[in-house]
Amino acid sequence: MASRGGRPEHCGPAELFYDENEARKYVRNSRMIDIQTKMAGRALELLYLPEGQPCFLLDIGCGSGLSGDYLSDEGHYWVGIDISPAMLDAALDRETQGDLFLGDMGQGIPFKPGSFDGCISISAVQWLCNSNKRSDVPAKRLFCFFSSLYSVLVRGARAVLQLYPENSEQLELITTQATRAGFTGGVVVDYPNSTKAKKFYLCLFSGPVTVLPKGLSENPDEDEASESRFTNASAHLECTLGGPGGASQRLASVGAQQVSSEYWLTRSRRGTLLSPG
Ligand SMILES: C[S@@+](CC[C@H](N)C(=O)[O-])C[C@H]1O[C@@H](n2cnc3c(N)ncnc32)[C@H](O)[C@@H]1O
Repeated sequence: MASRGGRPEHCGPAELFYDENEARKYVRNSRMIDIQTKMAGRALELLYLPEGQPCFLLDIGCGSGLSGDYLSDEGHYWVGIDISPAMLDAALDRETQGDLFLGDMGQGIPFKPGSFDGCISISAVQWLCNSNKRSDVPAKRLFCFFSSLYSVLVRGARAVLQLYPENSEQLELITTQATRAGFTGGVVVDYPNSTKAKKFYLCLFSGPVTVLPKGLSENPDEDEASESRFTNASAHLECTLGGPGGASQRLASVGAQQVSSEYWLTRSRRGTLLSPG
């Protein structure tokens, strides 16, 4: 479905917008591949994972797996969740390394508590700010998403969500629901003075890890405007990720709780990671 120059989120549900045509664009368009890869790289950098240690990560709105591929290239294991069957089919066709899961983040992330060492999301979370039917209340869907995300992260882990808020009210709505769910953190803005390159990264901490990194800028004097924090908690940078039973062991133990079996992608890898609830 084409967006005719407007915002994709105004064109109806994500699962209809990201149809086969859109999925094809993602995997064939070198500019798209480059942008997704770069933003995944920046999100991974902002996760501050322990160096040289493979981690077990979640990619929300994983789509065709371009962002996930970056995680694999950096030696991490990942699970992706996405609402669009066409995008997930594209990921399967590309034989991405991650395990893929069809689901709506607005209904919660259906994995066991404490499963993931970190989470990234590229250009997906702003979709929750739009409703397509009366029962879709953005604040409720955001809260359901953030509280389930908080639960599936190892305590002290981070989530870095790159997003495209439509306006400051939307960003406020998103950060308010993240805080209500228990997260601390803030928004890192890269290239704040560039219309094209400006990017928002919502950096969430599920524990007392609250040093917010600086956003990137071409001019070091711009840094002051490039971050905003929604916590005053004291800085504490101890990394609690990894621990006993590292990423590869947890591949076998994480499980979906609320999801019925028809949601599983059956074309590959069924049973290697998740068991139907
Ligand atoms: C810009 S694309 C991200 C592409 C992805 N990073 C990649 O590498 O291909 C945004 C993705 O968010 C997904 N999305 C939107 N709303 C969603 C929701 N409620 N739950 C899960 N995924 C959603 C879309 O289906 C789409 O694949």
